[in-house]
Amino acid sequence: MDLRQALVEVVGSRHVLSDPELKSSYERDYTGRYGGRARLVVRPADTEQVAGVMAACARAGAAIVPQGGNTGLVGASVPRNGEVLLSLQRLTAIGDVDEAIGQVTVGAGATLAALQDAAKAADQDAALDFGARDSCTDGGVVACDAGGARALRHGTARAHVAGLEAVLADGSIVSRLAGLTKDNAGYNLPQLLVGSEGTLGIITRVRWKLAPLLAARVAALVPLQTAREAADLLRALRADAPSLESCDFFLDEGLELVLEHQQRESPIKDRSPFYVLAECAAQSDPTEELAAALEDAGIDDALIADDTASRRGLWTLREGHTDAINAAGVPHKLDIGVPLRELDRFIDAVPGAVEQAGAERVILFGHLGDGNVHVNVLGADPDDERPDEAVLELAIKCGGTISAEHGVGVAKAAYLERARGPAELAAMRAIKRALDPDNLLNPGAVLTATRGR
Ligand code: FAD
Ligand code: MLT
Ligand code: ZN
Repeated sequence: MDLRQALVEVVGSRHVLSDPELKSSYERDYTGRYGGRARLVVRPADTEQVAGVMAACARAGAAIVPQGGNTGLVGASVPRNGEVLLSLQRLTAIGDVDEAIGQVTVGAGATLAALQDAAKAADQDAALDFGARDSCTDGGVVACDAGGARALRHGTARAHVAGLEAVLADGSIVSRLAGLTKDNAGYNLPQLLVGSEGTLGIITRVRWKLAPLLAARVAALVPLQTAREAADLLRALRADAPSLESCDFFLDEGLELVLEHQQRESPIKDRSPFYVLAECAAQSDPTEELAAALEDAGIDDALIADDTASRRGLWTLREGHTDAINAAGVPHKLDIGVPLRELDRFIDAVPGAVEQAGAERVILFGHLGDGNVHVNVLGADPDDERPDEAVLELAIKCGGTISAEHGVGVAKAAYLERARGPAELAAMRAIKRALDPDNLLNPGAVLTATRGR
């Protein structure tokens, strides 16, 4: 029996796509930089079907690229070399919220927004959020260990995973969904799969830890002159505003691009080079706490947003960067993390490094509180690695990481050894060989396929 027929027997003919037109929306990534042809697109409906698909692919020696909402930004959610594209989007079931312990079990294909809504309906909070919320899936979020603005207070996806269910490369199912707070029985396989970007197993369900819902919120947009001032402000807010939840930043050039793209007037009349967007959340109104912290930090020109609509208005300026940049060209997206003491050195040095590498333009924004800078290079050929190399080298020199929250994917796989060193890379390769001996799961993502495989 050929692979197509074997897959049809598992999921039904409607859910095995071979028509190029039907496959095309699964074959190009969000940035437009990465993509290729899928041998087939297969869309299982539940864990058992995922296991059947994996077993059939293992028997046929067929490589697989798992895909959730296809909002990943490192090229690993799309086929490159005729792999089978495994879409998890039909696994959308969301269980009842266990209010006593604050947990819920969600299907890998449910969107982040659906998880947020389910939590809110039970007066709880999923406590993770970012601009792709309506399309990205919970399986994808966990597979990337996504972060976003609220990670400053609540941690990245990893901090929310109380357990998960997954299908391994041979089709076997592993399940830890009891959500036990304490469970030291053996290696923590669920946490190994967090951030593994579809290279060690297919996540089918996630046991998600919720947080108490803090309904009282206030945001402030603070115009500043330099990255150094921003780092000082962060220090002050952390010390004086315990309800601080997010502290993001963007620059005036990015703001201009967003305003043009959203066809909107600037809410800030006196423009400045650097902006910090901070948000506080608490049981009772944190406005006074934030205002006092800003005053102590010598800030008297912040724009305060104390209702939902005006807060959203400010956040769309920050979240709108991704799409505004995409509309300006195919970006090279580099997601850097640096120690806070190095932040201003890194931010000041990036434009020169990018220009020397032959690119025209760079837009910076990100999650200040996490030292997480999104470096978006425009005007470079998609295959020209020089700007990527320059920015990633600079990050390593500053004691930082080549991937703070987007993952390694295929975009940064070639740089991983430089960032982590040979011993750590050898350990990663050993883990990969143990769980996926035939290199069928997202080959070329995270680890390059060249050595040792
Ligand atoms: P996909 O893009 O489909 O896949 C991402 C990776 O996970 C791929 O390697 C894929 O093979 C693997 N994968 C997907 N599903 C599974 C599964 N069930 N089992 C195993 N592997 C799987 N990220 C941040 O961290 N912080 C942000 O603030 C942020 N903001 C974003 C804003 C926008 C507008 C966009 C487009 C993206 C943003 N991202 C952000 C990127 C982020 O990583 C993704 O949005 C999200 O985590 C990916 O989910 P997805 O379902 O789209 O996964
Ligand atoms: C963000 O913080 O908005 C995201 O990580 C998306 C991006 O970097 O474009
Ligand atoms: Zn981000």
